[in-house]
Amino acid sequence: MKKTNKIVLITGASSGIGKACAEFLNHKGYHVFGTSRQANKSTSNSFEMIPMDINDDESVEKTIKYVLEKAGRIDILVNNAGYGISGSIEDTSIIKAKEQFETNFFGIHRICREILPFMRKQNYGYIINISSIGGLISLPFQGLYCASKFALEGWTEALRMEVDSFGIKVVLIEPGDIKTLFTSKREKISALLKKSVYKKRAIMTIDVVEKDEQGGPSPDKVAHLLEHIINDTSPKLRYKVGSFTQILICYLKRIIPDKSLQWILMKYYKLK
Ligand SMILES: NC(=O)c1ccc[n+]([C@@H]2O[C@H](COP(=O)([O-])OP(=O)(O)OC[C@H]3O[C@@H](n4cnc5c(N)ncnc54)[C@H](OP(=O)(O)O)[C@@H]3O)[C@@H](O)[C@H]2O)c1
Repeated sequence: MKKTNKIVLITGASSGIGKACAEFLNHKGYHVFGTSRQANKSTSNSFEMIPMDINDDESVEKTIKYVLEKAGRIDILVNNAGYGISGSIEDTSIIKAKEQFETNFFGIHRICREILPFMRKQNYGYIINISSIGGLISLPFQGLYCASKFALEGWTEALRMEVDSFGIKVVLIEPGDIKTLFTSKREKISALLKKSVYKKRAIMTIDVVEKDEQGGPSPDKVAHLLEHIINDTSPKLRYKVGSFTQILICYLKRIIPDKSLQWILMKYYKLK
């Protein structure tokens, strides 16, 4: 199949990683559809933006139907839409915890259930899930965010094996800190609670996280990696992208004792 015939659907393409991927693939000649909740507000995209809320069954169903009617198929699905909450686990209400999972985990489950019947029929497809290094190493005061990405990691491992015989490749991209609007959109729970016993430490930790994010590489780095993956007929399950140190810590986790990793993380995030 020629590159230009490939139909790509990218969720969360209004900013950051999703937008960079959509622009890059569009520039490379792919037929790109991007989605976001506020898609009708964006006017300057070189690819088509469609409104879709990944938390809403009807919205997802309608959007997939629209793309399939217009393009006839979806070859590459990039599950990128997501956001982060921060705060202590104790301070996080069940409602906030469920909201985090609704978007970062169930949103992907919802879209895949809608698209898989078509991908199976065409006997071809790539499903690329944007996870995080936080899906491999959990970070203090980002427990719910990391848990949603850990869940995505496990879910993706299972899906990859289930759809392998249908010619569908399922891959995880695990970015470290990347400079996007993710930082400014973060919902800070403990920091906003007047009486939280965690407030001071949560603010200090998230301050380090946010500096790393804003000092991180451009989302274009993820876009280049994505193009490499979708041109590989036998892609790996996991690809890490980000700063050398953050990638190194993932490999260290495999070989050093948990206690040592915890010490490094607590020291780094000013909790020791
Ligand atoms: N930046 C980082 O350091 C970093 C590191 C590791 C992993 N990631 C992951 O990368 C992905 C993209 O994040 P980003 O950094 O590019 O952040 P971003 O600039 O804030 O982009 C997030 C995108 O997701 C969309 N979105 C959020 N909730 C949605 C919903 N319910 N339905 C549909 N679209 C929704 C947003 O659009 P609307 O608000 O318009 O809907 C936006 O387009 C996320 O999954 C994030 O967890 C980011």
